[in-house]
Amino acid sequence: MEHNYSPVFWFTGLSGAGKTTTAEALLQRLKSEGKRAELLDGDVLRAVISKGLGFSREDRMENIRRIVYISKLLSRNGVIVLVSAITPYQAMRDYARSELPGYTEIYVDCPLEECERRDVKGLYAKARSAQLANFTGVGDPYEVPQCPDLVLRTDRTTLEENMQRIRKLISSSGLEWRGPV
Ligand code: ADX
Repeated sequence: MEHNYSPVFWFTGLSGAGKTTTAEALLQRLKSEGKRAELLDGDVLRAVISKGLGFSREDRMENIRRIVYISKLLSRNGVIVLVSAITPYQAMRDYARSELPGYTEIYVDCPLEECERRDVKGLYAKARSAQLANFTGVGDPYEVPQCPDLVLRTDRTTLEENMQRIRKLISSSGLEWRGPV
């Protein structure tokens, strides 16, 4: 990793897998340590900079391209970036890795059945009743990450255990960053 780039923790996984919950917990942890960090959340960005984009492969790719661009601006200015977005295609994740020197991929793995059981936003029910086409995991693909830096199983391990695993990853892989002293 080039020394002046901060890490970009990229949380990928199905809708409802726990990406945002885990990223939020890490964000709070980093902030409580006095680090500068920002969370870029797919759902939030789709209401702002990706407003108008849909869920075709092309639109999802464009969404990710925008998120990568902002991540780069933040990362090269010493801000730790956390991204929470489905990022369903391997090609997108390869692109993000190639663009971001601090890219660290965390696959938030949770079986589809469990995500559907949780159905936090009621979108799986809609997708099953054909009111929502191209929903990831139902009518649209999620390509399992080929080379994640960390895999978290949110149906088997607690949030606290997952946080510890992320901390371990940070210390063992020498992910260092400039923060406010
Ligand atoms: S990505 O594929 O481009 O990475 P992103 O994470 O930004 O997706 O947005 C996913 C969110 O959009 C979901 O959490 C869900 O709330 C909403 N959404 C609406 N329609 C779809 C769909 N067809 N597939 C996946 N998510 C959808």
